[in-house]
This record gives sequence, C-alpha cells and structure tokens, in this order.
Amino acid sequence: MIKAPIRFSPELEQQQPDEADIVRQLCDAFDVILEKTTEDYGRAVRSVHAKAHGVMKGEFIVAADLPSELAQGLFASPARYAALIRTSTNAGDILPDTISLPRGLAIKVLGVTGERLPGAEGSAQDFVTNNGEVFVAKDAGAFLRNVKMLARTTDRLEGTKEVLSSALRGVHNALETFGTSSPTVDTLGGAPNVDPLGETYHSVTPYRWGDHVAKYRLVPITAEQIALKGRIVDAADRPDAIRTDLRAEMARLDAEWAFEVQLCRDLEKQPIEDPTVAWDEEVSPFQRVAVLRVPAQDSWDPAQVHAIDEQTRFSIWTGLAAHQPLGNINRARNATYRHSADYRARVNRCPYHEPAGIDP
Ligand code: HEM
Repeated sequence: MIKAPIRFSPELEQQQPDEADIVRQLCDAFDVILEKTTEDYGRAVRSVHAKAHGVMKGEFIVAADLPSELAQGLFASPARYAALIRTSTNAGDILPDTISLPRGLAIKVLGVTGERLPGAEGSAQDFVTNNGEVFVAKDAGAFLRNVKMLARTTDRLEGTKEVLSSALRGVHNALETFGTSSPTVDTLGGAPNVDPLGETYHSVTPYRWGDHVAKYRLVPITAEQIALKGRIVDAADRPDAIRTDLRAEMARLDAEWAFEVQLCRDLEKQPIEDPTVAWDEEVSPFQRVAVLRVPAQDSWDPAQVHAIDEQTRFSIWTGLAAHQPLGNINRARNATYRHSADYRARVNRCPYHEPAGIDP
C-alpha cells in the first residue's frame, strides 16, 4: 500500500551551523582548480563538469491529466517548452575520454511562468542531473574533502589518471558482480565508459514539488536509445571519443527521455538531508510527468557550443520557487555554481545570460 506524499514545509530542512563557512571553503578549493585550468587552456572552464560532449536543442513536453499530487509548479498544466541541453563528464579539467567518469545532463527549460527562487534570473527552469543514483558525499563538508583532493590532482599526472581509471573500472565491475557500486570509485575514473544517450539521469538530491517533495530522473525511451544502453565508447587514441560518437548518433536519431518523479512518502526511508541514500521505489514508485524530446541535429554546432558552453550557466537555483532545491548539498550548490560561473565570465570577459530563446 503506497502512502500519501509528505506535504512540503520549510521545517523539513535542517540547517547545519557551519554551512556558510563550508561554502566559502568550497569556493576557495574551486578557485585552485579554476586557476590551474585557466593557465593550461588560456580560458576559464567550469570548475566541475568542465568537458561538454554535446549541446543540443529540444522540447520539454509536460503531460496532460496528471493527478493533483504530480500536477505541481511547472507541471501544473500541460505545455510544450523549448529546452537547451548540455551533456558532460564530471571532472574540473578537460581530460581524454580514456579516463571514464560519471555523465552529467543539464537541461534549461525556457519561458516558464510562476514565482521565482530568490536570486533566480530570467525565466527558465534548470534541471541538473547525473547518471548515478546517489551522491558521493552525505553533506557539503564531506564533499569539501573530495574537492580539496581533486584540486591537488587537477591538471596533474594525466597518464597516471588513465592507468588508475582502467584499474578502477575493474573495481567497478567487481562491485557490480556483487550487486553494488561505489560513487567514489566512479568519480575517480572507475565509471563504465558508456554512451550518454543510453543513460538514465537522476536528480540525486530532492526538490520541492509544489505541495510535496520529490526526486526525479530521466529515462531513455526510444528503441534506438535503449539499444545504446551500456554501449562502451571506444576511447583508445580518441581523446574526444564521446563527443564524436554522440555527434554521429545525433545526426541520425531522435532522442527522448521520460521525465519521472518520485514523491517523498516516508521521511525516515527517504531522507531529505542525505543524498547518499537512494529512495526505495517500493515505498514510492517513479511516475512519468513529462518527456524531453531531442530531435536529430548537430550536437557540436560551434555557434550553439559557444552560446551554451561559454555564455550560459545551468544551476538548480535557476527556476521556480515551487521546485526549490532541498537539503544541505543543494543549499551548498547555490553560491558555488554562481562563483564558478562568475569566474568564467570575468576571466573570459564573456558575461553569461539567461537565454531569451532557443537560438544562439
Ligand atoms: C555540494 C555539492 C556540489 C557542489 C559544490 C557542486 C559544484 C558544481 C559547480 C561549481 C559546477 C560548475 C558551475 C558552472 O561553472 O557553471 C557544477 C556543475 C555541475 N554539477 Fe555540481 N556540485 C555539487 C553537487 C552536484 C550533484 C549532487 C549533482 C548531480 C545531479 C551535480 C551535477 C552537476 C552537473 C551535471 C554540472 C554541469 C552543469 C552544466 O552542464 O553546466 N552536482 N557543480
């Protein structure tokens, strides 16, 4: 028997006393990464998820006749929105694709209406997702230790990282044999080197869902994408293999992901403050509320790459108050994403904008 969804209230969040200090330290650690990569590339790139593999235009189609618990915020009534999409891997430096890392998918749904989150410019709703179900750290303090370690290895020992990545892929496979996985192993290069089009992408962290609270995910639904699930990209001697393969695939196929929502129905089993815990699907099944449609196109069109990679930022804090990011990790993502984007804008002398439309 599925329980009723929990009602949203600000008391569901529990602030830690040192949050502002941790955010400051995260920004300092990101500066080390940003400065090193700027020196190497002669331009600033994102301090995390620096390497894009494709930037695309699409459509976000909100379903009709959703039950009231799902028909919330952006999903309150059926609609079609233009959307921009950026696929990436999670390192702060631009590495050859032999170093296999988790995949990111960021979406900007354009022209949404409703009360905005504090400080949210423009009129978009951003969704920022990864192909892992859970996060590597329970809170931002724990994540800070990872970022400091990554800052020390940024732009160093690329050859060693390739060897390490190949060894860690073995560890990942061994763990899978026992029906488990480790986000730490994957973040260090042990993630399977999979085709981004076949992947399911998760919000990882929870969000306000109007009157309720939810996590969400994007599940590939076309037959062609399902056939690509788990396809290993051959990156030997091909530093940009993912980008090249994606471009060839997107030249011929239309991609579609179902956008599915998992409402929080049990605060003990589905914690808000700990994204290392996957929410049990028996307690709360995922339900489809929209489709992200990405028609065949050039996924590495130079004008689009410039517009999305350089002049745009994606942030979970760009959006509607009805979809407020929740929990310690999400709170720490507000100022840190802006800090990284501000650095890029300043150093590249290229301000970022909230796009007014889908074309560059
Ligand atoms: C405290 C935790 C986290 C911190 C401090 C953090 C920090 C950052 C920063 C600074 C950026 C670059 C922003 C820019 O320059 O525009 C970024 C990008 C990104 N992050 Fe996080 N992040 C955190 C957690 C997460 C989680 C849980 C996910 C999983 C959904 C995630 C997925 C992504 C993705 C996909 C991007 C690339 C967005 C794009 O394409 O522009 N991050 N993150």
